Amino acid sequence: MYLNELDNFHFDLPDLGTAPQVAVPNAAPDELDLSALPIPAASSPVGNVDAPQIGSLSAADEELFKGVIAKYFSDEVPSAPSSGSTDDVQPEKKNCLLKDNGFGIGIPETDIVRNLHYDEADTVNTEEIRKQFPILHQKVNGHDLVWFDNGATTQKPLRVIDGLSEFYKTDYSNIHRGAHTLAARSTDQYEGAREKVARFINAPAKENILFVRGTTEGINLVAQTFGRKFLEKGDNVIVSTLDHHANIVPWQQMCKLQGAELRAIPIDKNGDLILSELEQLITPHTKFISVGHVNNTFGTINDVESIIRTAHSHNIPVLIDGAQSIAHTKVDVQQLDCDFFVFSGHKIYGPSGIGVVYGKKEWLEQLPPWQGGGNMIKDVTIEHTEFNEPPARFEAGTPNIADAIGLGYALDFVQSVGIHNIERHEHELTEYARQQISRIPGITIMGNPKKRVSVISLDIPGIPAPQVGQLLDKEGIAVRAGHHCAQPALRALGYEMSVRPTFAVYNTKEEVDRLVIALQKIVADVQNR
Ligand code: ALA
Repeated sequence: MYLNELDNFHFDLPDLGTAPQVAVPNAAPDELDLSALPIPAASSPVGNVDAPQIGSLSAADEELFKGVIAKYFSDEVPSAPSSGSTDDVQPEKKNCLLKDNGFGIGIPETDIVRNLHYDEADTVNTEEIRKQFPILHQKVNGHDLVWFDNGATTQKPLRVIDGLSEFYKTDYSNIHRGAHTLAARSTDQYEGAREKVARFINAPAKENILFVRGTTEGINLVAQTFGRKFLEKGDNVIVSTLDHHANIVPWQQMCKLQGAELRAIPIDKNGDLILSELEQLITPHTKFISVGHVNNTFGTINDVESIIRTAHSHNIPVLIDGAQSIAHTKVDVQQLDCDFFVFSGHKIYGPSGIGVVYGKKEWLEQLPPWQGGGNMIKDVTIEHTEFNEPPARFEAGTPNIADAIGLGYALDFVQSVGIHNIERHEHELTEYARQQISRIPGITIMGNPKKRVSVISLDIPGIPAPQVGQLLDKEGIAVRAGHHCAQPALRALGYEMSVRPTFAVYNTKEEVDRLVIALQKIVADVQNR
């Protein structure tokens, strides 16, 4: 029995129906006609967000599917990748993706198949998913741990933990250099992870993907390289009041350096961007627009499609900060048509210290290198350096090899559950939590964005947010309490801090109920003082 069942509260979620299952065809792989497969065309909106259009397979999916079928129908194991010792080692895509997982490469076949006949009617089996997260099964202060600090970072599934451990036990080497077997294995897996990222966000090619330390480093990379080359005195850059400090400070620093102005799209009291003001902020000197996809304090899903359309109508490039969206909603960078998209691995069940910059080819080719060193060069003399092509141009030195591979495993995990299933599950949890918390007299939920995901910010007048965080911790419940690196957003709604539970795929309604009961106790204690 959940709290919401006490009074028959019921979610107004669409009936998604039952999508047809795809039978594995009984035919030789080369003869497969994939157009005959009954891939469902999704049409129902899911929660606050439009459902994906699944109607056909891309050429890449088709190739993968045939590969998977080939593996199912024969014992033949594809030959090992031929990568060796040069700076230009590139794994062969097909081998890489189908290679035995003992070498840690590629999307496991079951995931590929599942992903290709993605079933919109699936539900998230939280019990099974939780088994994959050992850290969740512990007591904190005498209570079962409730991890509601997913906006800060997500916990890691066994696939990531074991995959990293196996990689270090069997394959670890430096990459893109070295004539030996382990160098080839490591290079293949690192480049295989780049390929997985490209597929996950539907980038045109893996060369569009740069590995960095995280979202913050990614935005700094774009601000520094674009700013030094294209920003001039009198220009301006537009961010938004909803943005994380990581999307404000790098542009502020660069604007100060170049004598440019930083402008911000304002927000209303619901925590929604006032997009009608964007046109007024744009001038002939606006050189760049950089905005968050999902806000980390109120959970607002920004209408980035409309921002990108407006920006492009003025020939202004756009960066989307996807730190808070990547784990919660489908991202298709080609459909969005953004010029850059950045995210962190640790927010999507992957390791910390690894992140991604997606850039359109035409921009990556124009941007100068960011850091100098090995790997980013073609040729060096004492007088002059000829730089490498992207992505190597932006990956100076030995990169975070293992964690890039770990990020690939995290994306495998997400694909095995289905991002739309995750989105639906989190939407249901978030709306359930909002409903229950809003019934507690003495608690204010900050903002009421039209489209939102996974985040709630609370205020309990009379008790500072960090103290609420400590009291919840005594109940085994981890939330973030503070300013969340989003001071302009909080201040625009009249606050300095909030208590912020954030939800992920492994969270349950029982856990929300525990939060609600703990909050009720805290409020009662404050009122009885
Ligand atoms: N950016 C992270 C958060 O919102 C750390 O908590």
